[in-house]
Amino acid sequence: MTDTPVRHNADVTDRSLLSGSAYKSGRDLSARQSLYQWQSPRYDLPGLVAEQLREIRGTVVDIGCGNGKFIRRLRNDRPDLQLLGLDVSAGILAEVPGPVAVADASQLPLHDGRVNAALAMHMLYHVEDIPGAVSELGRVVADGGTVIASTNSDRDKSELDDLWQRASGDILGLDRGPSRISLSARFSLEEAPSVLSHVFGTVNVIELPGTITVTDPAPVVAHMASYRAWANQHAVPFEETIQRAGEIVSQRIEKQGQFEIACLGGLLVCRR
Ligand SMILES: C[S@@+](CC[C@H](N)C(=O)[O-])C[C@H]1O[C@@H](n2cnc3c(N)ncnc32)[C@H](O)[C@@H]1O
Repeated sequence: MTDTPVRHNADVTDRSLLSGSAYKSGRDLSARQSLYQWQSPRYDLPGLVAEQLREIRGTVVDIGCGNGKFIRRLRNDRPDLQLLGLDVSAGILAEVPGPVAVADASQLPLHDGRVNAALAMHMLYHVEDIPGAVSELGRVVADGGTVIASTNSDRDKSELDDLWQRASGDILGLDRGPSRISLSARFSLEEAPSVLSHVFGTVNVIELPGTITVTDPAPVVAHMASYRAWANQHAVPFEETIQRAGEIVSQRIEKQGQFEIACLGGLLVCRR
């Protein structure tokens, strides 16, 4: 059993922390994304998004585009589309093929109905005013357009939450230490449909369940370390906790041959 993820509101939405540290470059985001290479089944997320956009013509904006995973794929698969990447972090945008611009999801620099589709992939939980950002998505997308958002379930990777509490507990001399930060808890897969349906007439949820199986602690350690931007908000020495977590995973692998993490993410496909 793990505790319900804690809502660390200010820490997760602090724009200077997001652009100056967490997403200053794509390094930590890539470390988190790369854990999915051990997931079964494997989902081709950019491919699933391209499939949902098959009827779309014209302009697609990727808001909070990060290191450009979706833009790169759409540029390749859909050369007919005009693509625009927006993000609060100038640093991470340097890795993304243009056109791109620094912009906040709460105040999009786009005219009403200007785009035919918008993506908000694993990013709405970073926005302070989530309903306001959802209204912005509705404002900039033309009638008949599509918005695709994505996020994780409250149950996603609960083994890592448990691992963190065991490791931090060992460091602090407690049975279980404080819980780790959860990014997606502010806009979980469970809550997202009702938030989106305030603006969009149709919201279809595509759940993407899977299991990550590792036989080496390194990818788990790298994933945990990718939260280093929030290191001083964990109420426990960050590096030591991660080192201890790596030892616990090693012991499990020695005993059981592997370490498993149950994942549940999803796409929310919205039409106006
Ligand atoms: C978890 S990453 C997701 C990146 C990409 N969408 C993906 O799914 O691979 C979140 C991204 O959203 C950006 N972001 C956070 N808050 C934002 C905001 N208010 N407006 C625009 N982008 C934001 C971050 O800088 C980061 O690049």
